[in-house]
Amino acid sequence: MSEPRQILVTSALPYANGSIHLGHMLEYIQTDMWVRFQKLRGNQCIYVCADDAHGSAIMLRAEKEGITPEQLIANVQAEHSSDFADFLVDFDNFHSTHSDENRELSGLIYTRLRDAGHIATRSVTQYFDPEKGMFLADRFIKGTCPKCAAEDQYGDNCEKCGATYAPTELKNPKSAISGATPVLRDSQHFFFKLPDFQAMLQQWTRSGTLQDAVANKLAEWLDSGLQEWDISRDAPYFGFEIPGEPGKYFYVWLDAPIGYMASFKNLCARRPELDFDAFWNEGSKAELYHFIGKDIVNFHALFWPAMLEGSGFRKPTAVNVHGYLTVNGAKMSKSRGTFIKARTYLDHLQPEYLRYYYAAKLGRGVDDLDLNLEDFVQKVNSDLVGKVVNIASRCAGFIHKGNDGVMVAGDAAPELTEAFLAAAPSIAEAYESRDFGRAMREIMALADRANAWIADKAPWSLAKQEGKQDEVQAICAQGINLFRQLVIFLKPVLPVLAADAEAFLNVAPLTWNDHLSRLENHTLNPFKALMSRIELSKVEAMVAASKEDLLAAEAKIPAGNGELSKDPLSAEIEFDTFAAVDLRVALIVKAEAVPGADKLLQLTLDIGDERRNVFSGIKSAYPDPSQLEGRLTMMVANLKPRKMRFGISEGMVMAAGPGGEEIYLLSPDSGAKPGQRIK
Ligand code: 2FM
Ligand code: ZN
Repeated sequence: MSEPRQILVTSALPYANGSIHLGHMLEYIQTDMWVRFQKLRGNQCIYVCADDAHGSAIMLRAEKEGITPEQLIANVQAEHSSDFADFLVDFDNFHSTHSDENRELSGLIYTRLRDAGHIATRSVTQYFDPEKGMFLADRFIKGTCPKCAAEDQYGDNCEKCGATYAPTELKNPKSAISGATPVLRDSQHFFFKLPDFQAMLQQWTRSGTLQDAVANKLAEWLDSGLQEWDISRDAPYFGFEIPGEPGKYFYVWLDAPIGYMASFKNLCARRPELDFDAFWNEGSKAELYHFIGKDIVNFHALFWPAMLEGSGFRKPTAVNVHGYLTVNGAKMSKSRGTFIKARTYLDHLQPEYLRYYYAAKLGRGVDDLDLNLEDFVQKVNSDLVGKVVNIASRCAGFIHKGNDGVMVAGDAAPELTEAFLAAAPSIAEAYESRDFGRAMREIMALADRANAWIADKAPWSLAKQEGKQDEVQAICAQGINLFRQLVIFLKPVLPVLAADAEAFLNVAPLTWNDHLSRLENHTLNPFKALMSRIELSKVEAMVAASKEDLLAAEAKIPAGNGELSKDPLSAEIEFDTFAAVDLRVALIVKAEAVPGADKLLQLTLDIGDERRNVFSGIKSAYPDPSQLEGRLTMMVANLKPRKMRFGISEGMVMAAGPGGEEIYLLSPDSGAKPGQRIK
């Protein structure tokens, strides 16, 4: 018997500012199946992950919600953890990059790189938002495309004509955060000298660590010469301050992969048998695998191994890259209801249906995987319910009725027993190489053979004949033994089905090697339905609910930050959603311009029993704000307060119009009183 392997496995860390959707789940389910396979084989396999909690997007989102980034990431972590658990993704640890372990390890890796001469500094000129007081990442700058003149394009590429450019080339640039015109400003930045690792990467990327398609893609970058990587961001930024460099922070992508180490370190504190150094020090015998999507290959297969090498840690054994998820042949679409959140799926369907479908369609390449919803229903019903579970439900009743639930000894179909045993190494090899699709095909081919054999023997006909009882028992015991082997082969994919089957079979948790033995003279527990068919109506309800998720998200787009909100979709909403909005008549007591903001007015509103401070992006229509004083308008009084740069906005006034001078504040008829509710 060979020694159990020591394996550490990670999935990419999800950002802590959004919900998990079925595209994310493709990665976590795939990794979890691989990890469960390793554990089933008796290897020591540890699966860690964490929320990716840093960066300006998270800082700005928290600000928008009027909470601290720490509160935001705690809320999101709770949501992510329950989504993963309910999809049966069994992390050994799910941590956060905003943790003590990660701060310490990021500092350590940075100082080692710096002391070894791998960090450079130089001044960088970048757009700065004078209203918001921060440097703007490319995606926070919008303007007119320098090539095709399309308006409202992001700072680095045009969605209309596909051109890429520097943000400084955009015409009429605006900050997407405040609407202010950005100015160019210099600042000192820190760079990781990636070219120092060119030779190592050239060799490492071709040493069996990557799929060929990925290595070929990287060769394009490697051959054209690597650039130094900017790893610092200026305050304000939510992240870790660079040791010894006040006001400078690690760029989120510097400390994100270190989050893998940090999550493992956090686990080591609870699991004394795990030794951090044995897994991470240079020369480690343990294996290290990262599962990621194809969009983040450069971070994991260039920057990350170089950072590890430069700071004296071991490099990954392999980086396993997968493609994107499409639904019904197209990119996930919010308006079509195919942008499906993990929770929305779970509200309607069992997690194992999706786990099986993904397994059946996953190969070891980087191709995209299509979740075709009709095929999903058909395949799961036909394979799992129609083939696998069917074997047990056909055989169990006869054993209970005819033999008090006891499986007789003897092998009624040696050729099938032989075929099942012979298939096991190939199925294991398919799992090991992440060719889940092949593993599922081989398992279902065995299930087909078992079903065909049972159908041929037809125990249900024999049971009606005199003197055939022994034959019926022999057939059904064989059927249950074959079912048990299928359950073992499917256990990495279907852990709940396996647990329920173990309860029915009256056996301890099955391991891979249990497929070598059989149950004889063994008493079964009563049979309960192990899996029900997917009803198409449930899938339709999930798609409809995903459209509703979109409406709820649109309704949350606030009009703050100096812009009228975008039109929500003109779709119907439930009465309760409408009734939850507290609309009030408000008297504008005071209206004044906000110094430093070119679109905002600050309004003091009287709503009967209290006064509210509201910032509204209507200045362009009311250049003389005092004309608004004494006028009645309408406000949403129960909007969550929002912290803005100029103060807290406690509600929203209602206006119509396309913008600019054409913004019309709504007013009630005369006679309305401040504070009256709009019904
Ligand atoms: O692309 C993403 O969603 C990142 N949050 C992945 C980070 S993976 C690792 F490097 F932390
Ligand atoms: Zn363009």
